[in-house]
Amino acid sequence: MTAVARTTPVRFIDAPFARAADEFLAERTAHFSVPGHKRNPLLVGDDPLLLADMPHLCGVDDMRLSRDLLGRAERLAAQAWGAAHTLFTVSGSTHPNQAVCLAAGSPGDEVIVARTSHRSVYAGLVFAGLEPVWISPDVDPVTGLALGMPVERVERALVEHPRAKAVMLVEPSYLGLTSDIPAIVEAAHAHGVPLVCDQAWGAHFAFHPGLPDCAVSLGADAVIMSAHKTLTAFSQGAMLHVSDRGLLDVDRTRACFEALLTTSASGAIYASLDRARALMEERGTVLVEHALRLADGFREEVGGWCGARCHDAGMIAYPSVGGVDPLKLVVDLSATGADGFQIERDLRDDGVVLEFADRTTLVPLLTIGDDERSVARLTSSLKRSLARWAGTATADRKATSSWRITPQPVLTLRDAFFAPRQRVSWRRAVGRVAAEIVSPYPPGIPALAPGELITSGLLNVLRGEVSDGTRMAGPSDPSLETLVVVAESSAPEGSN
Ligand SMILES: Cc1ncc(COP(=O)(O)O)c(C=O)c1O
Repeated sequence: MTAVARTTPVRFIDAPFARAADEFLAERTAHFSVPGHKRNPLLVGDDPLLLADMPHLCGVDDMRLSRDLLGRAERLAAQAWGAAHTLFTVSGSTHPNQAVCLAAGSPGDEVIVARTSHRSVYAGLVFAGLEPVWISPDVDPVTGLALGMPVERVERALVEHPRAKAVMLVEPSYLGLTSDIPAIVEAAHAHGVPLVCDQAWGAHFAFHPGLPDCAVSLGADAVIMSAHKTLTAFSQGAMLHVSDRGLLDVDRTRACFEALLTTSASGAIYASLDRARALMEERGTVLVEHALRLADGFREEVGGWCGARCHDAGMIAYPSVGGVDPLKLVVDLSATGADGFQIERDLRDDGVVLEFADRTTLVPLLTIGDDERSVARLTSSLKRSLARWAGTATADRKATSSWRITPQPVLTLRDAFFAPRQRVSWRRAVGRVAAEIVSPYPPGIPALAPGELITSGLLNVLRGEVSDGTRMAGPSDPSLETLVVVAESSAPEGSN
C-alpha cells in the first residue's frame, strides 16, 4: 500500500486552476503584462523558481477573470471541506485571520479570543479596532503545556460580555489538541455569535476518520487553514472557509478578505492549492493512513526511551481536550534530564531539522510528505541524542512561556499600538506598558502584547528564553536588551 501511495503518478483529474497553470507554462503567447522577467530565458536561464512564476491575472486567467478559474477551484475546495464558501489566499493563514477580524465587528466591539492566538490575530484586532476579551486554555500542571479551551470558560465569557461579536479560537492548538468544538459551537450560536476557528494546523483533518473532525463539519462559521503546513500547497497557500449560517456576513467577509489581499496574487500558489485539494480528494485517506502508521511507529520507538514521553490519544483524558491529532508528534523531555535545545543542536548536526524545540518539548512536524526513511532518520538521530544527554531531570527546565500567559492589560491593544512610544532599557521597562509584541517563535503566540504591563517575572522568563536561543518575533530589539513601551505621558496613572 505504501509503495502504491508514493509511486503512482498523481492525475489531478479535476483541478481546473492547476490545469490552466500547466497550459500557461507550456504556451508561447507574447505576454505584454507582468511579470517583468517575462520568463525570458536570457534573463531567467533555467532557474526553476522563476520559470514556475506566473501571475493569476494576465497569466493563468486573464485580467477580466473570463475563465473563472479561481472561482471554480475555490468551489471544488468548498465541496471537499464541506463549506458553503471557500476563498484561497497567497498570504498564509495570517491573511484570513486578519480578514475575519475586520469582518467580525466594528471598532470598539468586543470579541472573545484565545490568548494563545497566533500573532497575526493581534494585528487583525488592531486593524479592526476590536477589543479582545482574552480567554486561555487549560494548562497541564505537570508539563506546563497548553491543553484545550474549556467550554465553561467560553460560556462564562459570553455571559459576562453579552455584546461580544464573535468567539475566536485556535483549533487545533500548536500541540495538536482540539477543544470540545461541538459544545463551543452550541454555546456561541446560543448567544447568536459566530465561532471562528484558526485551524492553520488542521487542513488534513477532513480526510481521515482517525483524525479529529474538521471544524467546518462541526459547525464553525469561519475556518482558517494553512494548506502549506500539513498539505502539499506552496508556502503561503492557505484558505478560508465560511458558513452560510448568517452569523458572519459572507459579503462583508469577502470584501475584507479582498481588501487585505495583494492585487498581484501568484498563480503558482493558487495552482498548488487546487492540486493539494485534488490530491487529498483522490488519495488523502491512503496518504494520511500511511502517515498515521509512521507516527505510531515513531511513538513506539521514542516513547519511554530514556524517559521521553510522547503525546498520544491518551491526552483526551484531560477534560478540556476534545480531540488529538495523532500526526502531531510532541515529545515531552521533562523526565529525561535532556535539554531540548541541546537535542535540537545534535539533530541539526545530523541534518535533521525540527519545527519546534524548547527546553522541555520537541515538535518534529510529520506530514503526508514523510516516508519510512525520513522518520527512521529522525528516530535514530533523536534516540542517539537522548542517550547522550539523558540524566537526572531538573525542575528548572520550563516549557516556553507562551502556554501559560496571564496578561495584565492596562491599555487596549489598539490604543497601545498607536500611542506615542519610546525605547527603554529592559530594566526600565519593568512596570511600563508594552507597545510591541514579544512572541517566542514558534509557536508565535505573543507572551507580551501592546497594552500589557511588563512585569519583572515575565521579562526575566523571556530574557532567559532569548539566552537559551529562542527567537523572539515582534520586538524591534529581539535581544530584549531594550523594549519599546508606551511613552509615559500617554500611559494611564499607576502603570509605572
Ligand atoms: C495557529 C496559527 N495560526 C496562523 C498562523 C499563520 O500561518 P501562516 O504562516 O500560514 O500565515 C500560524 C503559523 O504558524 C499558526 O501557528
